[in-house]
Amino acid sequence: MKKVLYKFILAVVLAGSVQGAYAADPKPEEEIRYRQSVFNVIGRNFNALGAIAKGERPYDQAFAVKTANLVELLAPLPFGSFGPGTDKGALHRSDAKIWTDQAKYKEATDKFLAEVSKLSTSAKDLNSLKAQVGEIGKTCKGCHDDFRLKEAR
Ligand code: HEC
Repeated sequence: MKKVLYKFILAVVLAGSVQGAYAADPKPEEEIRYRQSVFNVIGRNFNALGAIAKGERPYDQAFAVKTANLVELLAPLPFGSFGPGTDKGALHRSDAKIWTDQAKYKEATDKFLAEVSKLSTSAKDLNSLKAQVGEIGKTCKGCHDDFRLKEAR
């Protein structure tokens, strides 16, 4: 019994250290998959707010605030996964300019995050939600126009 327990603990500790190694040093393809996954989740939630703003979905304050909080929480995450070497390793749609014109990319990121930081407060009221979804939408589109490729490469 003791032996089994010991083996179990050892397995847990080893599994933890392997995970730790991944978290500390993700491979480029993992970074690419991570940023795409998070953008995807941001997109799904932001689109739900967009549907409310367009009147295609009824306004429900609790749902809007919860969804806005999620978008705020997730918004910074993809931008930690554009480090050196993550311009290749898997198919993706990030323009090479992200790595060659980092200042401009950071500017687009900061603009987006500044608008997103107002989202959960705005979500408490339909009119301000509509306005803020519009402001954020412009920053998504602006960055995609400049930095997202039409086709994956
Ligand atoms: C500062 C730049 C920037 C901003 C702001 C930005 N994006 Fe993106 N987005 C990108 C880039 C770059 C990619 C391509 C990622 C890749 O494939 O490497 C992308 C990809 C995506 C994808 C595709 C993910 C997939 O499945 O591959 C979605 C969906 C998306 N963005 C939605 C949004 C939405 C919605 C917003 C605004 C709420 C937003 N993005 C704001 C740069 C941005």
